[in-house]
Amino acid sequence: MFLTDRKLILVLTSVVVSVFQSATAEEPDKNTATLRSAFKDDFLVGVALNTAQVDGRNANAGEIAARQFSALTPENDMKWQSLHPQPDRYDFKGADAYADFAEKHGMALIGHNLIWHSQTPRWVFQGADGKPATREELLKRMEDHIHTVVGHFKGKVKGWDVVNEALSDGGPDLLRDSPWRKIIGDDFLDHAFRFAREADPQAELYYNDYGLENERKRANCVKLIKGMLERKVPIDGIGTQSHFNLNQPSPGEIEKTIQAFADLGLKVMITELDVDILPGRGPQGNADINRREQADPAANPYTGGFPDDMQEKLARRYAEIFGIYLKHRRSITRVTFWGLDDGTSWLNGFPIRGRTNHPLLIDRQLKPKPAFFSVLKAGMESPAK
Ligand code: XIL
Repeated sequence: MFLTDRKLILVLTSVVVSVFQSATAEEPDKNTATLRSAFKDDFLVGVALNTAQVDGRNANAGEIAARQFSALTPENDMKWQSLHPQPDRYDFKGADAYADFAEKHGMALIGHNLIWHSQTPRWVFQGADGKPATREELLKRMEDHIHTVVGHFKGKVKGWDVVNEALSDGGPDLLRDSPWRKIIGDDFLDHAFRFAREADPQAELYYNDYGLENERKRANCVKLIKGMLERKVPIDGIGTQSHFNLNQPSPGEIEKTIQAFADLGLKVMITELDVDILPGRGPQGNADINRREQADPAANPYTGGFPDDMQEKLARRYAEIFGIYLKHRRSITRVTFWGLDDGTSWLNGFPIRGRTNHPLLIDRQLKPKPAFFSVLKAGMESPAK
């Protein structure tokens, strides 16, 4: 590469801004300047989308997503509460729009998720007379749900997050004391993966969690998955969510995590990448959606815009992260961002509601940020080229 970094970024900026602005840009040179093409020999680059972005209501966002990304995860619409709100009622209408969108735009569809303690209706864990369900009742319910949902999307979903966030964040126990574990027992994961494999033998099956860059949680994850592999439970990959911030986790911990999972012989996926740029007081890296922090105006400093020095910081952090991903590109099969743009990021509401966060590559006006160009540049200079 003969251009200096700054010159290359300027060239990329003018090319890509025009691609963002003109939905009908056809020139091949412009079309090559996308994330999906820059990383095509490395890994899939995915995005989590919401309903309005795939059903045409937010057509501009949908076009950008389809042009830039090669994989798609529904942000909420395949969760239990969306697909199976009542015992005898499944509702696939919302989720089917993602399958259509993914097919139309040649994107890999990721199913998120089958078994989780959050966004799951209360009735799931109840038996007759409002008493807690028995192990047999809950296993049967799990089997029906997984067979029905995975069966419905058979041939359309590339891979499923079969179990989400089963590991504990502290204490002596390996597993979180979720209703799944309390009622069924530690083997609930084994059953979930086996039901999923029965329903679609071709789909890849993943374990997905946050905070796996933490030494204790990473070690526990390795232990959990090793046990499953020894028991011949069908699992193909591990998703590390990667809800990061500007300083944490360190590059060393990010790298150790990828390596630890690759060493198990499994595919490694970065499934929910974002970089929180707002101040936080609670345990960083804990992305449990039920965690809340006290609101405080000092914790919301960028309501009027994102200053240049912060843009640069974010761009450098993303360059650092993608440097690691590219180094491990033979182990990593997908890197998915948790949201298309800053305006729709869940981090505007977590862990404090109503803040203005700037964690992604695309801003609220759907324009690429400096961070977008630093990631694009990393891809265009990938060792695979
Ligand atoms: C989040 C969504 O982004 C929000 O819209 C929703 O209100 C709560 O869930 N880990 C996960 C995701 O696995 O499903 C979560 O998504 C973010 C944390």
